Amino acid sequence: MTGIYDDPWAYELACSFRDVSAEVDVLLAWYAEHRGPGRDTAPATVLELAAGPAEHAREFARRGPAATALDLNPRMCAYAAGEATRADVKVEVVQDDMTRFDLGRRFDLIATMLDSTSHLMTLDAFVAHLRCVAAHLSPGGLYIVEMSHPRDRLGDEPTVSTGWTVERGGVHASVRWGEPGDRLDPVTQIADDHVTMTITGDDEAIADGRPRSPGNGGVTAGGVRVLRDVVPYRFWTATELDAAIRLAGGLEVVAQYGDFGTGADTVALTGPEAWRMITILRGA
Ligand SMILES: C[S@@+](CC[C@H](N)C(=O)[O-])C[C@H]1O[C@@H](n2cnc3c(N)ncnc32)[C@H](O)[C@@H]1O
Repeated sequence: MTGIYDDPWAYELACSFRDVSAEVDVLLAWYAEHRGPGRDTAPATVLELAAGPAEHAREFARRGPAATALDLNPRMCAYAAGEATRADVKVEVVQDDMTRFDLGRRFDLIATMLDSTSHLMTLDAFVAHLRCVAAHLSPGGLYIVEMSHPRDRLGDEPTVSTGWTVERGGVHASVRWGEPGDRLDPVTQIADDHVTMTITGDDEAIADGRPRSPGNGGVTAGGVRVLRDVVPYRFWTATELDAAIRLAGGLEVVAQYGDFGTGADTVALTGPEAWRMITILRGA
């Protein structure tokens, strides 16, 4: 795999619109609410899949659970391990495929964040992924998977592209993920999303004190760096997810939400403000 995932620092900057700590608060609250009978209220072990820079795994590790992060991309793995060391938190990083890993042990909580299952291109791949997850869950443990909301693609006004800006440590980035011409193939439900990230700041800030890794098409000139990539994206509907879970076996759906929120801030998957499809599965 090449492109924006080969430049983990830029990828993490692009995703810095998220409040990772607040998301982990909610993941832990959901764990306490939905865990199986007889389990402690907090997970002792957490596995983040398709973890990329492993921001959530690092946050879990900061709070106590033993955290493991798994990703296919060796640069993401090296970056995740380096950032964990820099932050002085212990995260085990494993380079592996989320459809065929075998870590030889089980976890109380497994999570896949930010629509990373959109990299599973076929039903077989999704089912294989879920079987691996089921084989790695402690009895009564939870799998929480965050996907994009089906409304993005099936609503009256489908969203084919999004743009946002972020600022961190003197570096500004403007991100476009998807262009209006990026059409979802109606048969395969796969789109080639064109991604453009324009990073501005002085050269040293862009490099963030580390050797620059331009990735695919990265250009640095006078404090501006432009990254371009095409990222294949597979759209999964709610009913396909349900079918994959039933085919895989070993997991049951215990809740679905439309955003990160608990208590009075709970967002129903079907609510008008829902913009994510977050599914909580429990090991059978
Ligand atoms: C959108 S990024 C998300 C990273 C992380 N989940 C987050 O929340 O920032 C998707 C990640 O999935 C990884 N990936 C893609 N296919 C994978 C596979 N089959 N197994 C494991 N990781 C995979 C990519 O290398 C990339 O780091």
